[in-house]
Amino acid sequence: MNVLVLGSGGREHAFCWKIAQSSLLNNLYALPGNSGTATCAENVDLKLDNFSKIGSFIKDKNIDFVLVGPEVPLVNGIANYIQSKKGLEKVVVIGPDQIGAQLEGSKDFAKNFMKKYNIPCAKSQTFDRESLNEGLAFLEKNKAPFVLKADGLAAGKGVLILEEIEEAKTELASMILDEKFGEASAKVVVEQFLKGTELSVFILTDGRNYKVLPTAKDYKRIGEGDTGLNTGGMGAISPAPSADELFMKRVEEQIIVPTLRGLETEGINYQGFIFFGLIEVKGSPFVIEYNVRMGDPETEAVLPRIQSDLLDLFEGIASNTFSEKDMQISKDESATVVLVSGGYPEEYAKGKSISGINEVEKAIVFHAGMKEKNGDLKTNGGRVMAVTALGSTIERALKKNYQEIEKIKFSKMNFRKDIGYELNEGVLN
Ligand code: AMP
Ligand code: GLY
Repeated sequence: MNVLVLGSGGREHAFCWKIAQSSLLNNLYALPGNSGTATCAENVDLKLDNFSKIGSFIKDKNIDFVLVGPEVPLVNGIANYIQSKKGLEKVVVIGPDQIGAQLEGSKDFAKNFMKKYNIPCAKSQTFDRESLNEGLAFLEKNKAPFVLKADGLAAGKGVLILEEIEEAKTELASMILDEKFGEASAKVVVEQFLKGTELSVFILTDGRNYKVLPTAKDYKRIGEGDTGLNTGGMGAISPAPSADELFMKRVEEQIIVPTLRGLETEGINYQGFIFFGLIEVKGSPFVIEYNVRMGDPETEAVLPRIQSDLLDLFEGIASNTFSEKDMQISKDESATVVLVSGGYPEEYAKGKSISGINEVEKAIVFHAGMKEKNGDLKTNGGRVMAVTALGSTIERALKKNYQEIEKIKFSKMNFRKDIGYELNEGVLN
């Protein structure tokens, strides 16, 4: 089988690393890829928004499966494009079409969907330019903290959680009237604040049947103890400590199954990953957000724990035999630590030399913002790499991981030294 992975981050390196182990694989391509995907796939120098060139490439190389890493091409309809292009009808896209991708592309769409199918989520109301005054009055009636969410994609920045009513009102107006997050905040979802433990649950689905992947917890803030600015993700552990058997049963019954039935009822043909961003409130799961792809850095923590052949599962989706396949998960637990360029998520330098990766023996280094120049590895982004170790417990995986990370060096390297800190403190919140 020939596979094309779209994207260029640590997540895509992890996918290529995993797919490259498949006995079913002939050729693997990453578009555009990075220095990590280049070690296990052939990188393709094309832009992710150039659907027409991507389509021609798929045809030229006889690609069977296209795995879409990030959300933007999905929200922009890459699956529809591929499926409607002459000669590509048989290509299987792992990722939803444009309507399915609205689960992530529009928070208003996602909330309406959840309300319609009784999927537990925070109470909310959506406002736009016409209903701004009602929105301001709605805020007055509610209690702090106030949660304001830009409806559209805002690169993970479109959510504001505010303590003061006046600030919440000013921000709501600025999101809608001044387009603080561009077109994405022309509509704003105002939502009840939920207090609890966040975790990520992932499934792979053929639209009807599903397999639950290992769960994960990610660490979004730049600073230790979950402080400071939000980032794309500074680390992850798998499994999520709060995801015990009873909780996962509730997730399946109250969230996964109703979501798939809802998609079917709406006539949305969804094949691919669904990433449920959940919050556990007193033992009950609530959906904070849907993502229509895998998470980054969660993928780097989750895939090394999957023993099954991912291509075999994709093949099951293609041939309608997905329900007969099995997702085998290792008993080993995992921990991923993201190494970032100093200054990230604000200004940071690029092009700094990286050393020591070849000395890492007991962890897997997934390249993220990295590139190779004349045989040397250089930093090329804020999140530079994601380092994953496995162990019989998350604590053991973390210990190994931090020892291995000591071997890696680049100018102004920064990383959180407290990933998994709740485990040591014996608290999960
Ligand atoms: P989102 O982009 O929807 O995942 O929101 C970003 C982050 O904001 C989440 O990871 C949560 O930490 C927080 N958040 C979002 N919605 C809520 C909510 N209703 N209650 C509490 N925290 C929330
Ligand atoms: N780590 C969160 C995400 O990928 O959206």
